[in-house]
Amino acid sequence: MNLKRFIPIIIVVGVFGTSLVGISAMGQTEPKGGMNLLKEEMVALERAFEGIIDAVIFGNMKLIKPAIPPLNKAREKVGQAIKAGEKIILPKNQEKFKEFLKLDDKFHREFEALEKAAEGGKKKMVKDQTHKLFDACVVCHESFRK
Ligand code: HEC
Repeated sequence: MNLKRFIPIIIVVGVFGTSLVGISAMGQTEPKGGMNLLKEEMVALERAFEGIIDAVIFGNMKLIKPAIPPLNKAREKVGQAIKAGEKIILPKNQEKFKEFLKLDDKFHREFEALEKAAEGGKKKMVKDQTHKLFDACVVCHESFRK
Protein backbone atom coordinates (compact mmCIF):
# COMPACT_ATOMS: atom_id res chain seq x y z
CA MET A 1 0.00 0.00 0.00
CA ASN A 2 1.28 3.42 -0.90
CA LEU A 3 1.05 5.62 2.19
CA LYS A 4 1.59 8.81 0.18
CA ARG A 5 -1.84 8.42 -1.40
CA PHE A 6 -3.41 8.59 2.02
CA ILE A 7 -1.59 11.63 3.30
CA PRO A 8 -4.05 14.17 1.78
CA ILE A 9 -6.93 12.19 3.26
CA ILE A 10 -5.27 12.16 6.62
CA ILE A 11 -4.75 15.91 6.43
CA VAL A 12 -8.34 16.57 5.40
CA VAL A 13 -9.74 14.34 8.13
CA GLY A 14 -7.33 15.88 10.59
CA VAL A 15 -8.28 19.46 9.81
CA PHE A 16 -12.03 18.89 9.59
CA GLY A 17 -12.02 16.55 12.52
CA THR A 18 -10.31 19.12 14.69
CA SER A 19 -12.62 21.91 13.67
CA LEU A 20 -15.66 19.71 14.27
CA VAL A 21 -14.41 18.98 17.74
CA GLY A 22 -13.90 22.72 18.14
CA ILE A 23 -17.42 23.51 16.95
CA SER A 24 -19.09 20.95 19.18
CA ALA A 25 -16.97 22.09 22.11
CA MET A 26 -18.19 25.66 21.63
CA GLY A 27 -21.68 24.63 22.58
CA GLN A 28 -20.45 22.85 25.66
CA THR A 29 -18.17 25.37 27.26
CA GLU A 30 -21.03 27.09 29.02
CA PRO A 31 -23.12 25.60 31.75
CA LYS A 32 -26.81 25.38 30.97
CA GLY A 33 -29.21 27.95 32.32
CA GLY A 34 -28.14 31.06 34.17
CA MET A 35 -25.04 32.29 32.49
CA ASN A 36 -26.36 31.82 28.96
CA LEU A 37 -29.50 33.68 29.83
CA LEU A 38 -27.56 36.57 31.34
CA LYS A 39 -25.39 36.76 28.25
CA GLU A 40 -28.50 36.69 26.09
CA GLU A 41 -29.89 39.57 28.09
CA MET A 42 -26.63 41.46 27.68
CA VAL A 43 -26.59 40.95 23.92
CA ALA A 44 -30.20 42.16 23.75
CA LEU A 45 -29.24 45.11 25.94
CA GLU A 46 -26.34 46.04 23.72
CA ARG A 47 -28.60 45.94 20.65
CA ALA A 48 -31.25 48.03 22.37
CA PHE A 49 -28.56 50.47 23.41
CA GLU A 50 -27.41 50.89 19.83
CA GLY A 51 -30.95 51.95 18.95
CA ILE A 52 -30.98 54.34 21.88
CA ILE A 53 -27.68 55.91 20.90
CA ASP A 54 -29.02 56.39 17.38
CA ALA A 55 -32.11 58.01 18.85
CA VAL A 56 -29.96 60.41 20.88
CA ILE A 57 -27.49 61.34 18.16
CA PHE A 58 -30.21 61.83 15.57
CA GLY A 59 -32.60 63.47 17.98
CA ASN A 60 -35.28 60.99 16.97
CA MET A 61 -37.05 59.62 20.02
CA LYS A 62 -39.20 57.35 17.86
CA LEU A 63 -36.23 55.02 17.41
CA ILE A 64 -36.35 53.99 21.05
CA LYS A 65 -39.64 52.14 21.36
CA PRO A 66 -38.96 49.44 18.75
CA ALA A 67 -35.55 48.78 20.34
CA ILE A 68 -37.04 47.65 23.66
CA PRO A 69 -39.19 44.48 23.25
CA PRO A 70 -36.35 41.97 22.57
CA LEU A 71 -34.61 43.27 25.67
CA ASN A 72 -37.69 42.84 27.82
CA LYS A 73 -38.08 39.29 26.58
CA ALA A 74 -34.49 38.41 27.43
CA ARG A 75 -34.79 40.07 30.81
CA GLU A 76 -37.99 38.20 31.57
CA LYS A 77 -36.20 34.91 30.96
CA VAL A 78 -33.50 35.83 33.46
CA GLY A 79 -36.13 36.87 35.99
CA GLN A 80 -37.95 33.57 35.57
CA ALA A 81 -34.73 31.62 35.99
CA ILE A 82 -33.96 33.46 39.23
CA LYS A 83 -37.49 32.84 40.50
CA ALA A 84 -37.18 29.16 39.63
CA GLY A 85 -34.09 29.05 41.82
CA GLU A 86 -31.64 28.63 38.96
CA LYS A 87 -28.21 29.93 39.64
CA ILE A 88 -27.04 32.87 37.57
CA ILE A 89 -23.32 32.48 37.22
CA LEU A 90 -21.31 35.67 37.35
CA PRO A 91 -17.82 35.63 35.83
CA LYS A 92 -16.47 37.15 39.04
CA ASN A 93 -17.54 38.16 42.56
CA GLN A 94 -20.30 35.56 42.67
CA GLU A 95 -20.40 36.03 46.44
CA LYS A 96 -21.68 39.56 45.85
CA PHE A 97 -24.72 38.35 43.95
CA LYS A 98 -27.04 40.51 46.06
CA GLU A 99 -25.08 43.59 45.07
CA PHE A 100 -25.37 42.50 41.45
CA LEU A 101 -29.15 42.24 41.80
CA LYS A 102 -29.24 45.70 43.35
CA LEU A 103 -27.26 47.20 40.46
CA ASP A 104 -29.45 45.34 37.99
CA ASP A 105 -32.57 46.62 39.66
CA LYS A 106 -31.33 50.19 39.69
CA PHE A 107 -30.31 49.88 36.06
CA HIS A 108 -33.77 48.80 35.06
CA ARG A 109 -35.45 51.56 36.99
CA GLU A 110 -33.27 54.08 35.16
CA PHE A 111 -34.09 52.28 31.94
CA GLU A 112 -37.81 52.65 32.57
CA ALA A 113 -37.28 56.35 33.19
CA LEU A 114 -35.60 56.54 29.80
CA GLU A 115 -38.51 54.77 28.12
CA LYS A 116 -40.98 57.17 29.69
CA ALA A 117 -38.92 60.19 28.69
CA ALA A 118 -38.74 58.85 25.14
CA GLU A 119 -42.48 58.36 25.00
CA GLY A 120 -42.92 61.94 26.12
CA GLY A 121 -40.44 63.09 23.48
CA LYS A 122 -38.18 64.62 26.16
CA LYS A 123 -34.89 64.73 24.33
CA LYS A 124 -32.71 66.16 27.05
CA MET A 125 -33.97 63.74 29.63
CA VAL A 126 -33.39 60.83 27.25
CA LYS A 127 -29.85 62.04 26.64
CA ASP A 128 -29.14 62.37 30.37
CA GLN A 129 -30.59 58.92 31.07
CA THR A 130 -28.50 57.43 28.26
CA HIS A 131 -25.35 58.80 29.90
CA LYS A 132 -26.42 57.47 33.26
CA LEU A 133 -27.13 54.04 31.85
CA PHE A 134 -23.88 53.93 29.99
CA ASP A 135 -22.00 54.65 33.23
CA ALA A 136 -23.98 51.87 34.87
CA CYS A 137 -22.87 49.33 32.21
CA VAL A 138 -19.28 50.14 33.06
CA VAL A 139 -19.77 50.05 36.83
CA CYS A 140 -21.43 46.65 36.79
CA HIS A 141 -18.94 45.18 34.33
CA GLU A 142 -16.03 46.33 36.47
CA SER A 143 -17.43 44.40 39.39
CA PHE A 144 -18.94 41.32 37.78
CA ARG A 145 -17.56 40.75 34.31
CA LYS A 146 -14.10 39.36 33.67
C1 HEC B 1 -26.11 44.82 36.76
C2 HEC B 1 -24.92 44.46 36.03
C3 HEC B 1 -24.76 44.80 34.58
C4 HEC B 1 -25.17 45.91 33.91
C5 HEC B 1 -25.91 47.12 34.45
C6 HEC B 1 -24.75 45.74 32.54
N1 HEC B 1 -24.12 44.55 32.39
FE1 HEC B 1 -23.40 43.79 30.65
N2 HEC B 1 -22.71 42.18 31.64
C7 HEC B 1 -22.84 41.93 32.98
C8 HEC B 1 -22.20 40.68 33.30
C9 HEC B 1 -22.14 40.04 34.68
C10 HEC B 1 -21.66 40.18 32.11
C11 HEC B 1 -20.88 38.89 31.91
C12 HEC B 1 -21.82 37.77 31.52
C13 HEC B 1 -21.09 36.46 31.34
O1 HEC B 1 -20.03 36.46 30.72
O2 HEC B 1 -21.63 35.46 31.80
C14 HEC B 1 -21.99 41.15 31.08
C15 HEC B 1 -21.66 41.01 29.75
C16 HEC B 1 -21.99 41.89 28.75
C17 HEC B 1 -21.70 41.70 27.36
C18 HEC B 1 -20.94 40.53 26.76
C19 HEC B 1 -21.88 39.40 26.42
C20 HEC B 1 -21.10 38.21 25.88
O3 HEC B 1 -21.59 37.60 24.92
O4 HEC B 1 -20.03 37.89 26.41
C21 HEC B 1 -22.18 42.79 26.70
C22 HEC B 1 -22.14 43.06 25.20
C23 HEC B 1 -22.79 43.66 27.67
N3 HEC B 1 -22.66 43.09 28.91
C24 HEC B 1 -23.38 44.87 27.37
C25 HEC B 1 -23.90 45.73 28.33
C26 HEC B 1 -24.37 47.07 28.04
C27 HEC B 1 -24.34 47.73 26.68
C28 HEC B 1 -24.80 47.56 29.22
C29 HEC B 1 -25.38 48.92 29.51
C30 HEC B 1 -26.27 49.51 28.58
C31 HEC B 1 -24.60 46.54 30.25
N4 HEC B 1 -24.05 45.45 29.65
C32 HEC B 1 -24.97 46.68 31.56
C33 HEC B 1 -23.48 42.72 33.89
C34 HEC B 1 -24.07 43.94 33.61
